[in-house]
Amino acid sequence: MEYKLITAEHYELVIEHLRGNFFADEPLNRAAGLCQRGDGNTELEYLSLATLQDQLSVMAVDGRPDSATYGQIAGVILNGILLPGDTEKALDKLQLSEDSNYKKIFELLYRHCLQSNLFAHYNVDRIFDVRILSVDSRFRGQGIAKELVRRAEHMARKCNFKLLKADATGIFSQKILFSSGFKPFSEQLYAKYTNDAGEIILPVEAPHIKLQLLTKQLNDG
Ligand code: ACO
Repeated sequence: MEYKLITAEHYELVIEHLRGNFFADEPLNRAAGLCQRGDGNTELEYLSLATLQDQLSVMAVDGRPDSATYGQIAGVILNGILLPGDTEKALDKLQLSEDSNYKKIFELLYRHCLQSNLFAHYNVDRIFDVRILSVDSRFRGQGIAKELVRRAEHMARKCNFKLLKADATGIFSQKILFSSGFKPFSEQLYAKYTNDAGEIILPVEAPHIKLQLLTKQLNDG
């Protein structure tokens, strides 16, 4: 597997990879019924492209010349820079969204992040935000996600970030990030995330039971 920084020439292929995998498979996207496999999603694609432009994202590409999937993207980790005020602005903008499913997902993520107040807690003025971790279903279970997380951390260290953060929405991303030294900062059980009528807003399927906001401090040189 070859691991490369994602640059502008790859953006289209990255979006295609996400349409075929993350958009349909990620636990909250699935619970909200955001997309059918292969379909696009305007807002998630906008968010992905904005994140790519921070130039901190990495992809895994099949580098075996004899393979049927030679040259194809096997996985990506999309990382962005989070600055104070960004989540407040994103939440304001979310109110204008016409995609009610997207809104449900990002209301949860943004409000949970705001409650956590990470900038004040860690006394940092920017955070390396792991936004999307996605591996093509044909390549799962081979350690690609783990290696993408390792490369993301390397990038964060190189760029002098002091804090990494991820909204891990499922049990597997949580396991992968724990094993990379991330720690739970706060969490929300999906069964307790309900509307005024007591109905569960995002009926996330087992084995995923909670959102975890995970952090990793990089003050160890
Ligand atoms: N069942 C059981 N264990 C699993 C599974 C699974 N489906 N997926 C990963 N794991 C475990 C592995 O066994 C491994 O554990 P080990 O080190 O103890 O052996 C560990 O997790 C690492 O697995 P990888 O092989 O590195 O993970 P993979 O490359 O398969 O990618 C991922 C995992 C990214 C979660 C993939 O399944 C995927 O793309 N899912 C859909 C999108 C998604 O949910 N992304 C994460 C959302 S959170 C976020 O993006 C910040």
